[in-house]
Amino acid sequence: MLGNFSYHNPTKLYFGDESLKYLNEELPKYGKTVQLIYGGGSIKKIGLYDEIIAILKANGKTIVEDAGVMPNPTVEKLNEGVRLARKNKVDFLLAVGGGSCCDYAKAVSVSVHCDDDPWEKYYIRFEEPECEIVPVGCVLTMTGTGSEMNGGSVITNHEQKLKIGHVFGDNVMPKFSILNPKYTISLPKRQMVAGIYDIFNHICEQYFSGEDDNTSDYIAEALMKSVVHSSLIAVENPNDYEARSNIMWAATWALNTLISRGKTTDWMVHMLGQSVGAYTDATHGMTLAAVSLPYYRTIMHFGLKKFKRFAEEVWCVCSEGKTDEEVANEGLAAMESWMKKLGLAMTISELGATEDMIEGIAEGTFILDGGYKVLTKEEIIDILKQSM
Ligand code: NZQ
Ligand code: ZN
Repeated sequence: MLGNFSYHNPTKLYFGDESLKYLNEELPKYGKTVQLIYGGGSIKKIGLYDEIIAILKANGKTIVEDAGVMPNPTVEKLNEGVRLARKNKVDFLLAVGGGSCCDYAKAVSVSVHCDDDPWEKYYIRFEEPECEIVPVGCVLTMTGTGSEMNGGSVITNHEQKLKIGHVFGDNVMPKFSILNPKYTISLPKRQMVAGIYDIFNHICEQYFSGEDDNTSDYIAEALMKSVVHSSLIAVENPNDYEARSNIMWAATWALNTLISRGKTTDWMVHMLGQSVGAYTDATHGMTLAAVSLPYYRTIMHFGLKKFKRFAEEVWCVCSEGKTDEEVANEGLAAMESWMKKLGLAMTISELGATEDMIEGIAEGTFILDGGYKVLTKEEIIDILKQSM
């Protein structure tokens, strides 16, 4: 049964190869001092940095540069960004980059006016912000996380070996996001496919839960088919604008809160992947790819009807004369062969995980109860061993 829910997503999107010009419409709505958040320099290589600086200047903004946001942003970087924002009394945070920059901007936004320690408050105690929130806008250059239209913000604490996401409410979501597929063309293939798998898995996490007849699951199947279709075109020809734009749009819809409405969700692949990330600092999408098949093969028997439907609807497996289990297994085999075609990491050892880390990774894996089977610690260890 479709449960009770509310739905509201306040982020305004500008999509397409001319979308950057709309920054001129958005900037006047916010104060004078803008903290420009970006990563290790890819935006300079593609010429986007110069374009953004010109637009900020034309709009009379004072620019406070906050460069060097690393993939999997750290708590130290967060504290540095907060100090910078306080010192310069910033009015607006403009993130230009991928999920790491967007997530980081949201974390800074709820911490600038907060007296508490942000890591402890938001990522350990999962409290909501009570302070003034500095507004955030995003210009996306890497597609996958959905951070451009959600309240998610993932921060890594290497000292504590924890990578934790807080899903903030509407008040923290970006005020606007600019989605120009052209900017994603320069992504190295490894980043592109990691992002593609991140999208696919976001959909799986929301799909593999519940037994009901839910509209969200039909939307999820359509999104998965679109991602698989476009991904195969994009790996052959990364310059294919149509495929890259479909991937970008699917990423946003995969995790902008729509397809989880009225249903339960799983998220165990992310819990496993994030803990692997805390130990290895590996690319997010790759950590998910490496643990997915052992996880799904473990829980498949507890949600057989859905895994059969996944095989038939997403992978066009013909079920005639086969048991439900055979059909479900064929679906996962088709998914595996697609993952290999993309060149995804299929083991956590290739991401730097070693046998002696398994106990700690299992310890750092949050156990959630929305999926078809609540995992035991032993099952988590078993899945991690199968992922080696
Ligand atoms: O730092 P630069 O030089 O910009 O290079 C980046 C970075 O090295 C590069 N890149 C980005 N755009 C590029 C480009 N290189 C060439 N051309 C371009 N156009 O790509 C690398 C990865 O960027 P990053 O932002 O780290 O990737 P992604 O978008 O996958 O973000 C990953 C972070 O998001 C979190 C992950 O855990 C991870 O910390 N997530 C956030 C979620 C959310 N907000 O809801 C959900 C996700 O499940 C995920 O957990
Ligand atoms: Zn993800």
